[in-house]
Amino acid sequence: MSAQKKRVYVETYGCQMNVYDSRAIRDGLARAGYSEVETPAEADLLLLNTCAVRDNAEQRVLGRIGELQQYQYARPEVRIGVLGCMAQRLGEKLVEKRKAVDLVVGTDNYGRIPELLEKVESEGRAQFDLAVDGTTTYQAPPEVDPLNNSHFISITRGCDYRCTFCIVPYTRGPLRHKAPTQILEEVRAVAEGGGVEVTLLGQNVTAYRHAEASFAQLISAVAEVDGIRRVRFLTSHPTDFPAATLHAIAAHPEISPWLHMPIQSGSDRVLRRMKRGHRLSDYMAVVDLARELLPDVAFSTDIIVGFPGETEEDFEATLRVMRDVGYDSAFTFKYSPRPDTPADRLADDVSEEVKRVRLARLLDLQECLWAERGRAMVGQEWKIAIEGTDQKGRGFWRGRTLNNRKVLIPERPGLGIGDELRVKVLRLEGTTFFAEPLSLTWKYDRVAA
Ligand code: 5AD
Ligand code: SF4
Repeated sequence: MSAQKKRVYVETYGCQMNVYDSRAIRDGLARAGYSEVETPAEADLLLLNTCAVRDNAEQRVLGRIGELQQYQYARPEVRIGVLGCMAQRLGEKLVEKRKAVDLVVGTDNYGRIPELLEKVESEGRAQFDLAVDGTTTYQAPPEVDPLNNSHFISITRGCDYRCTFCIVPYTRGPLRHKAPTQILEEVRAVAEGGGVEVTLLGQNVTAYRHAEASFAQLISAVAEVDGIRRVRFLTSHPTDFPAATLHAIAAHPEISPWLHMPIQSGSDRVLRRMKRGHRLSDYMAVVDLARELLPDVAFSTDIIVGFPGETEEDFEATLRVMRDVGYDSAFTFKYSPRPDTPADRLADDVSEEVKRVRLARLLDLQECLWAERGRAMVGQEWKIAIEGTDQKGRGFWRGRTLNNRKVLIPERPGLGIGDELRVKVLRLEGTTFFAEPLSLTWKYDRVAA
């Protein structure tokens, strides 16, 4: 490679944990002398931070590697690296599948990327590091844009559950908890840069436990950091949801009463086969207590259809939970067998067609329920924070309520990103509310913030 600064292009797939990790990876490479570029055509190093949670996520990445190979044909010095969960799962098999790959680095070894790249050059062959050490955590620098809502901060890595369908415990290893001091340092850095909102991330954040703080204590401490006005967190697990966590949310007006809490299935029989570690009644107990303690609580969820052995009756139980909880949004997936997970030993016996129909029924029901609930919200007065302009360029500001509802208001002089205001909801289109501004309640001031 030339003596000039090497250029890296990073593409991120999958969950927000990967978005955070990609920031840590870019930071590490910047310190090793790489500059970041926005398009693969300009780069010497192409990195894909991947997801393995479903087969289609992996197929997309395999296809993408094929596309990126053109840059290697044009400039043989271009290197391609695959990182993240798919790298961890497939290891050397990735290079068998796609010869263009020069580097495969699992989820615990991002600190070694620069060194491995040097070895790619000196040894002239692909390099791998898939060791799982069970202790690594990463610290990404705060984002440059102070008002980029929201600054993600990962507080846990990995997962100690063994849901039978899930590859995560194998690709991300055991649950690790970042020290509260380190998390608070990251939160303070966001606030010092003028940021006002953080989102605490983990596969299972509510299971956070450290000698120095429980999850309830941690979110309270984060909410109390000077300058922080909004604290969100995901993903929640119903088994790790003590009342203390809900009390902490209730006690802090900064903490978002929005719970992204996957149910996966509404049938106890399926939950047992999934080894989720809870029954439907345990989940509903958290929902009910949350409703009691948090007047503005909003829920979202993940649901899998067509898990092995799922009957029509099981599926109808899932439809019932959707009705009983009334989710703001539901991420719905067809079961995708993952090699070497416990469920992979069960027959994938729900046909593709049945999975497709069940998925469509879930989506239809969610749409119907939401339309009805959302319409009932028209006329209400809410507080929102402005996050940016409407992506469709229709002359609106885009904002969000603390419980995560999307709201558009007409652009007005005197209002800007970061401002908080009261609005009156006028109508609903899909999942976006249109509202009229009533009064400014807090003006974002970059200097004072
Ligand atoms: N098939 C389909 N969906 C899955 N998920 C996890 N593993 C699988 C799988 N094998 C879904 C779960 C999880 C979300 C992140 O992805 O619903 O909550
Ligand atoms: Fe996967 Fe279950 Fe852990 Fe979530 S709780 S990451 S679904 S094993």
